[in-house]
Amino acid sequence: MSNDKIIIAIDGYSSSGKSSMARALAAAIGYRYVDSGAMYRAVTLWGMNHGMVADGAVDTESLIEALPDITIDFMPIPGEGQHTMLNGEDVELEIRSLKVSDNVSQVAVIPAVRHHLVELQQRFGREKGIVMDGRDIGTTVFPEAEMKIFVDASAETRAKRRFLELQEKGIEASYDDVLANVKQRDHIDTTRAESPLVKAADAVSLDNSDMTIAEQNAWLIDMYRRTLDAHGMKA
Ligand code: DC
Repeated sequence: MSNDKIIIAIDGYSSSGKSSMARALAAAIGYRYVDSGAMYRAVTLWGMNHGMVADGAVDTESLIEALPDITIDFMPIPGEGQHTMLNGEDVELEIRSLKVSDNVSQVAVIPAVRHHLVELQQRFGREKGIVMDGRDIGTTVFPEAEMKIFVDASAETRAKRRFLELQEKGIEASYDDVLANVKQRDHIDTTRAESPLVKAADAVSLDNSDMTIAEQNAWLIDMYRRTLDAHGMKA
């Protein structure tokens, strides 16, 4: 067994398909997958359940004070990847609801929340052998990551994908609401002061608007092999 493990950072806009790509890549190469967006969603859900987050408004002070009480982990579920655990409770379905999506960007702008989660994310990456997706993984969480991908696709393509995803999960939402949410999150994510969504200078861009899932996965594996080669490492 070789110890040539790297860190793979996959950043991009909401619903760009980066989570599915990151999950598939991690499974294919035997790496751990961490969905950093799920962590921001879990904090948001906790705030909603405790009356600190509602209708896009956040009681920032109380939420910051509560951060040490919020624990987030991921539990592998056979055949289903992994589920997000909030204080020991499986919240995988709840954190994907439009209600959480509507509030999460407002929680993700809070610097103390970001510092707290970035620290947790860096702990997950200590042993390397990790694929993490998010908005600031290649810029802030793992600026030293050996492989960085920045995924993009039009807002309409992304809204269509999220709409179908929600339908499949039986979560009710209209396409127009989903598109509005995608555009609003793009705006907040790219204009916030703390770690805005921006392509790292050394990230490779991937516009997957016209790519099939199989094409994306093949592209990623190829990139992974070339990255190992460039570092003189073996898979
Ligand atoms: O990837 P996602 O849609 O599940 O992310 C949910 C929100 O969390 C998104 O609107 C922005 C925020 N986020 C972030 O600010 N930084 C990350 N590394 C991941 C997500």
